[in-house]
Amino acid sequence: MSTIITIHSFRRGVGKSSLIANLAVLLALQGRRVALIDTDFRAPSLHLFFGLSNENSIHTLNDYLWDRCDILSTAQDVTPQLMSDTSGKLFVIPASGKISDIMQILRTSPNIDRYMDGLEKMGKELDLDILLVDTPAGLNEDTLQAIAVSNVVVLVLHPDKHDFQGTAVTVDMARRLQVPAIHLVLNDAQDNLNEEDARTQLEQTYHCGGGTVLNHTEELLALASSKPFVLCYPEHPLTARIKELVEHL
Ligand SMILES: Nc1ncnc2c1ncn2[C@@H]1O[C@H](COP(=O)(O)OP(=O)(O)O)[C@@H](O)[C@H]1O
Ligand SMILES: [Mg+2]
Repeated sequence: MSTIITIHSFRRGVGKSSLIANLAVLLALQGRRVALIDTDFRAPSLHLFFGLSNENSIHTLNDYLWDRCDILSTAQDVTPQLMSDTSGKLFVIPASGKISDIMQILRTSPNIDRYMDGLEKMGKELDLDILLVDTPAGLNEDTLQAIAVSNVVVLVLHPDKHDFQGTAVTVDMARRLQVPAIHLVLNDAQDNLNEEDARTQLEQTYHCGGGTVLNHTEELLALASSKPFVLCYPEHPLTARIKELVEHL
């Protein structure tokens, strides 16, 4: 069975999707066979990083969950975009950005059994090493299910009190669900934040081992989710930091 890494956050807009898209690219460049799955049906965004749009009438995870297609037809092979002779593969499984589809999925909770069957089939047939799952912010039943089946949960937070408190609830839930590994990422930190202090604070608050601190980076903001940062800025200190995180996972 492929390793499932799920990314989650207490609040929206903390950099979850940006981070997981970049982790996926780095893992594929390292030679892994990776699927990047968007389960944030309310605010889907992973398709944007790879120029996949609804106009291309691609199949989405929504279509699969509504029994309109097979899971394999939702997997978009974006490996050529990595522009490298990597032996790895990167498939993106997008969620639909169509307003009508977003409204429909909000009315009916996704079928978790069908979702899990789809992951298993995709993992086997595409011979995947890693499934990276982007989730909606906040805890609800669907997110808890996604967390429960993960080998690793990456929790992203901003350096503020509200996020620290909210994230504690998720850490607690992940522990109860016996997730084998939890990793914290303090994102969008200002340059003047003392990194050692921040890591100590993460350690003392959550007891999950050393976390990762990622600085606020104007170049990432300017990309506006249009491309993976690590491909545009391979030599940037933020890329080096995300690579360290990959090693840790
Ligand atoms: N380290 C960072 N520095 C600057 N901007 C960031 C950073 N991380 C994320 N962002 C920006 O924050 C916004 C929200 O990021 P996103 O990944 O969409 O968050 P989420 O998926 O948690 O809602 C985007 O505009 C993104 O470019
Ligand atoms: Mg997102």
